[in-house]
Amino acid sequence: GRVLHVVGTRPNFVKAAPVVAALGMAGCDQVLVHTGQHYDTRMSDVFFRQLGLPRPDTDLGVGSGSHARQTADLLVALDAELAVRAPALVVVYGDVNSTLAAALAAAKRDIPVAHVEAGLRSFDMTMPEEVNRRLVDQLAELLFATSPEAIGHLAREGADPARTYLVGNPMIDTLLTHLDLFDPAAARTTYELPERYGVVTLHRPANVDDPQAARAAARTLTEAARALDLVVPLHPRGRETLHAAGLAAAPGVHLIEPLGYIEFMSLVRGAAAVITDSGGVQEETTVLGVPCLTLRTTTERPVTVTHGTNRLVTHTELVPALCKTLDAGPSAPAEGPPLWDGRAGVRIARVVTRWLEHHD
Ligand code: UD1
Ligand code: UDP
Repeated sequence: GRVLHVVGTRPNFVKAAPVVAALGMAGCDQVLVHTGQHYDTRMSDVFFRQLGLPRPDTDLGVGSGSHARQTADLLVALDAELAVRAPALVVVYGDVNSTLAAALAAAKRDIPVAHVEAGLRSFDMTMPEEVNRRLVDQLAELLFATSPEAIGHLAREGADPARTYLVGNPMIDTLLTHLDLFDPAAARTTYELPERYGVVTLHRPANVDDPQAARAAARTLTEAARALDLVVPLHPRGRETLHAAGLAAAPGVHLIEPLGYIEFMSLVRGAAAVITDSGGVQEETTVLGVPCLTLRTTTERPVTVTHGTNRLVTHTELVPALCKTLDAGPSAPAEGPPLWDGRAGVRIARVVTRWLEHHD
């Protein structure tokens, strides 16, 4: 039976790479579909190049739009693709609109779905990701979880335990595979940063969409930059509002374009602290032992707080927390969450190949 992977955004590429590689090693017939939700070279091509992902068999070129328009266009395009490719299983990743559209299109064609990164919950339905992940988990036949909490959420929502697997974290597979390539000193030179610096990423709608929220973020970061130089690879989503809020003019703030994976992780690895609202970055800092301050009120990844370096902060808490972190200096990395050991892709491939044998 054929496996069809659907990816569309930056975090999808990072998560899919080890799964595609492991299934490739197992000799699986695979098709890789890119939805085109992310399309800038810096948001897409660079990841395929750096992570050794095969060139997509199809790029649906859906592009940007409202949630309704994007999801609707994705449904139509993916439905046609599924008809032609006739996969035995569709594999979807994370919680983006491409993930939901692919799971729904497959379910309506009675094609089983495997969800990689199942069971995460922020319990905040104002986040588009929370809507997507809840619906995808309802539709999925195979549920691959990164943490015991996620398994618990799925069980409480009635998922069959026989279809739920704790496999570890494929995003961390990718990190560990490329660890030797992360070169903080080289990255520091390239981006003209002092020895001690912080990395910032912001792209959640709650932080960057509304001009007033963007101004609040810019104010907080401007103040933080008095304690620590900040390099800010800007996601295109916040480009306009954060520029309009004057972030570029703040002393000690280095606004740059979105980075390739190796360049980004090189900077993170050498950072004194990271300030973010990203999902993936909370996990990556945990494994690298870099202090992470998450500018959000909830996290769907609580293991990064209990087993890692992550801390949720409000705008008013951020600067004091940053100063405290800098005073404390580097700490020994924690052991990290269970099974974040670089073997998640292999575990997923094992379950998938066994499943295919029983469903051919
Ligand atoms: C999406 C995901 C989010 C994830 C993020 C990862 C959804 C609902 N959201 O958010 O969960 O954390 O990806 O990065 O799926 N744009 C470009 N170039 C691109 C892509 C986007 O300029 O290559 C701009 C467009 O103006 C677009 C905006 O960014 O309107 C938002 O893109 P979109 O894909 O809708 O959502 P993200 O904010 O990227
Ligand atoms: N990332 C990157 N370059 C950047 C910012 C992020 O390579 O400039 C990587 C990051 O390491 C992580 C992934 O992109 O692996 C996460 O993407 P993002 O924060 O956009 O999405 P989220 O995890 O919040 O859905």
